[in-house]
Amino acid sequence: MDQITFHYDTVLSDVHLLLPNSCHLMARLNSVGQPVFISRFRILWDGAKQDTCDLGSPCGGEELDRDTQEEKGRGDARGSETGADGDGGADGGADGGEDGGVEPPLDEDGDLAVTRRQSLPRMDRDRDVVYPIILSQARREEEEEEEEEECPRDVIRIEHTMATPLEDVGKQVWRGAFLLADLILSQPTTFRGATVLELGAGTGLTSIVMATVAKTVYCTDVGEDLLSMCQKNVILNRHLMEPAGGEVRVRLLDWLRHDLCTDADAEFGWTEDEVADLHDNTTVIIAADVCYDDDLTDALFRTLYRICNNLHLPCTTYLSIEKRLNFTLRHLEVSCEAYNHFRNCLCEMQELRDGRTCFTVEQVTPSFPQCLLYERIEQLELWKVTAVPV
Ligand SMILES: C[S@@+](CC[C@H](N)C(=O)[O-])C[C@H]1O[C@@H](n2cnc3c(N)ncnc32)[C@H](O)[C@@H]1O
Repeated sequence: MDQITFHYDTVLSDVHLLLPNSCHLMARLNSVGQPVFISRFRILWDGAKQDTCDLGSPCGGEELDRDTQEEKGRGDARGSETGADGDGGADGGADGGEDGGVEPPLDEDGDLAVTRRQSLPRMDRDRDVVYPIILSQARREEEEEEEEEECPRDVIRIEHTMATPLEDVGKQVWRGAFLLADLILSQPTTFRGATVLELGAGTGLTSIVMATVAKTVYCTDVGEDLLSMCQKNVILNRHLMEPAGGEVRVRLLDWLRHDLCTDADAEFGWTEDEVADLHDNTTVIIAADVCYDDDLTDALFRTLYRICNNLHLPCTTYLSIEKRLNFTLRHLEVSCEAYNHFRNCLCEMQELRDGRTCFTVEQVTPSFPQCLLYERIEQLELWKVTAVPV
């Protein structure tokens, strides 16, 4: 029999699925026919920000109260599902054993009897329902400009798509982008005036936040469509970057290529001056949620190694990663292969002795305050790689 191939592995980021927006505005269709939405993410600047929250409890503001309540409601709902009388329990099973514990329901052969829970009516499900609002497929430029003027200084507006095939995941916003954004917003002095490179920037959210403090941010990724969306987001958020004089330059940087694209005709190509600036002045590299495929992770680390070797100054790289646990038949247990591969790559980098650059790796505890609303789950990690020329 022919092997079955799934052409589309569609994924949807929790950022868009759960929090922080109660509705999503569909603005247009992009050049490949995908609906593009605009989300507004509120930054809790100094006054509003709070210390790190409990898992799943974003902090601050009215939205927090609403979301936290909803989160609590969900927790309660889950609790009752697993409770003795909950509808998720196996109906035929005994509620309590002789020792007071819960005995699993068994069928006549002694196998575990599992009763499938009936799907609940839509209103009762324990996730927020997303209501897309279709504004128009092609907005007039003046409308966009008007909106731009209205946008307050604590709101980042990001164009993104919703569920995408794996090759388009950069068109969504991922929690790792928020974690890095939080690091920047809570430690601005670390990044003030810096020249920064972002790898796999996707919609550009983290680069935009970085440009509120840094001098120049080279915001890089692959694919004209994605880079155009990212460029649009940079323009949408000029008002956040202008006060500090920061600038985001959206550029093509493909980990699978050995060189930077300096083709003058390429829309997101690099000028010779930019390449020189990158090599002479970069002290910070950031990359959010970029390790989800082993081959790409290898390519990313090769790129990181090559770039660091070409830098004239010591450089610190911050990598965020979400450990996405899955049950695999191969291991017969819950594991995250992409994460394990990432950790191996970090180890190899630290052990490198090439006489050119010395790399040190450490995990950063994300105990800095949360300035954006998202679930800072335990599986969301931050790693720091320091590269010093030998
Ligand atoms: C999961 S997304 C993360 C996007 C963004 N950093 C965020 O956290 O919202 C992974 C990103 O890696 C980028 N990527 C994948 N392969 C790449 C390659 N060969 N060169 C450069 N970027 C790549 C994707 O285009 C995508 O933007």
